[in-house]
Amino acid sequence: MARILTGVQSTGVPHLGNILGAILPAIELSNKAENDSFIFIANLHTLTAVKNQEDIREHTYAVAAAWIALGLDPEKCVFYRQSDLPEVTELTWYLNCFASFNRLQLAHSFKDKSTKLDDVNVGLYDYPVLMAADILLYDANIVPVGKDQKQHLEITRDLASKVNQLCGEDTLIVPDISLNESTMLVPGIDGQKMSKSYGNFIDIFLPTKKLKKQVNSIVTDSLELEDPKDPDNCTVVDLYKLLASPEKVKEMEDNYRAGGFGYGHAKKALLEEITEHFGEAREKFNELIADKKKLDEMLAIGAGKARKVSQATLSRVRTRLGY
Ligand code: ADP
Ligand code: TRP
Repeated sequence: MARILTGVQSTGVPHLGNILGAILPAIELSNKAENDSFIFIANLHTLTAVKNQEDIREHTYAVAAAWIALGLDPEKCVFYRQSDLPEVTELTWYLNCFASFNRLQLAHSFKDKSTKLDDVNVGLYDYPVLMAADILLYDANIVPVGKDQKQHLEITRDLASKVNQLCGEDTLIVPDISLNESTMLVPGIDGQKMSKSYGNFIDIFLPTKKLKKQVNSIVTDSLELEDPKDPDNCTVVDLYKLLASPEKVKEMEDNYRAGGFGYGHAKKALLEEITEHFGEAREKFNELIADKKKLDEMLAIGAGKARKVSQATLSRVRTRLGY
């Protein structure tokens, strides 16, 4: 049985792009009986960018609630909060002493962030090493990630090999990268890639009135209601296609071409589709977010299961390094 591990940063409530592009595929993978899945909220990584205590705490809960609401079964996997297992920071230190300064300095993600952000802290620089510790601490065999994380995984493999060269080949598992080839790119309300950093996202967990406002703000051209419209060139249709049945999509496309069907109608249909598609998840999310105690209990159970593995790995590494 292969151990699959993945982490998600807690930078806010997951949006429709995160959900369709990353969360639902990962849930599907983790609910399969043949997989031994570890899924965690990377809230220590979040501190590289978020410095507000309330945000740190609340975003962690929001991410946890979203995953469970969307169908992650915490009994079928190990679901935990990174910060509940401080062992990861100790392993990060050991790995730091094997990591090449130059290589980290040249990592795409660091180079990119260090030119864009005002706060270029050492945590940002060390991000890939903490990520390597996340993976190596739990003996992961396979790490499914998007293309943007490939280099971080290569750094992880390299660090594991270096430690193994010194301490013995059975010290750390060198994980395989499973590149998520999903080309799904969910557009935001301005037609660009939906992203927290562009402020163009749709938050499906918002109360209906606010969600309606977001959907209504999707940018369209200024054709009149009666004009025929091009369904192949419209963000509302692009989003609708990701959720609605082929029959409903065809109906909307036909309506566009025929004219007499306005963008307001299309947005109304999209809103209905979102609230229908995610009706249960929206309800469950609200219940969970109102009961932090229950979320804490659930995450504590996950941390308990994760700790069994992390302590064994750490004690192996400590002893073999001479401590
Ligand atoms: P954001 O751009 O909002 O900060 P992240 O970079 O934290 O999102 O991405 C978290 C996960 O969600 C990644 O696996 C990423 O591939 C996926 N994801 C983010 N935005 C989209 C999108 N617009 N379409 C599809 N997947 C996305
Ligand atoms: N860096 C990953 C991202 O931004 C999140 C992450 C942290 C992660 N630790 C990990 C992913 C370990 C996989 C394995 O998406």
